[in-house]
Amino acid sequence: MLLTLDRNSDAESVDPAFRRDILSGLAHRPRTTPARWFYDRRGSELFEEITALPEYYPTRTETALLAASCSEIGALTGKGRAVIEFGAGSATKTPHLLSAIAPAAYVPVDISGDFLRESSAVLASRFPGLPVLPLEADFTSPITLPAAVADLPKLGFFPGSTIGNMTPHEAVDLLRAMRASLGEGAMLLIGMDRVKDVDVLVRAYDDAQGITAAFNLNLLTRINRELEGTIPVEAFAHRAIWNDEAARVEMHLEATRNVCFMVDGVVFAMEAGETIHTENSHKYGARDARLLLRAGGWEPAHEWTDADDQFAMLLANAA
Ligand code: AVI
Repeated sequence: MLLTLDRNSDAESVDPAFRRDILSGLAHRPRTTPARWFYDRRGSELFEEITALPEYYPTRTETALLAASCSEIGALTGKGRAVIEFGAGSATKTPHLLSAIAPAAYVPVDISGDFLRESSAVLASRFPGLPVLPLEADFTSPITLPAAVADLPKLGFFPGSTIGNMTPHEAVDLLRAMRASLGEGAMLLIGMDRVKDVDVLVRAYDDAQGITAAFNLNLLTRINRELEGTIPVEAFAHRAIWNDEAARVEMHLEATRNVCFMVDGVVFAMEAGETIHTENSHKYGARDARLLLRAGGWEPAHEWTDADDQFAMLLANAA
């Protein structure tokens, strides 16, 4: 049921896309909101805490993989490439790659300018002499790279298994956009989380300390703050479930009683047990990962996994 009431909004700084996505996502059945809206300041802090949790294996596994494989990666890519990182750059992962391949330039690309400038400054100070050219852009569509790197061979870097937060269809579109952005002769180094034991997967998204629950619930707090919401946050519970058919962990926010609330002047009612689907985290087996890359215009060249095959880094050539 939807009712439109008088608005009383002075929140002019709110991203119009946030308002649009939340209002349409809450009205849709099943109710679904895009995962990108988790990352306000508090959400980003909580995500940093998640990456250090004992149950959340992806970050430490990928970082260790990069550290152990960097000389092999350097031998396969050669020196002197422009590294184009899709995302603002991580203080723990990016230095391993930059040290290994002696790049000619580093271009982190992110839609959030503030975060991009902060992380670029940190990396520039660690690699004096390396041109660091941050680019504020939405890389889900083809982007124009800085003129200074136009003639250099490129290495795209997309760690963190962020590709898993997209549907396979969106992931293919993104890989194709990266292929178009990076051009002929480019390579791509990408992290993908593997399918594995369901308990391990679910625990990684429903940790004992409740940090992932706080991360999920923070979306409701953000909606209340930015969109004049009256959502009773305490009436929602974090749920993490494995969807075997779609090979993904899903995060939901479940109403634990019947609730009625307003967001931006619109009234919403949810029954006990109903959920808002807030995130997908797709996992890829070895063959699926290669198929995904090929569908996206990349030919897999090499892959590295940890001893337990929990996480994979794949290196691919522009097809
Ligand atoms: C950013 N992304 C790859 C994380 C993931 O594992 O899907 C986001 C996350 N959600 C809950 N925990 C971590």
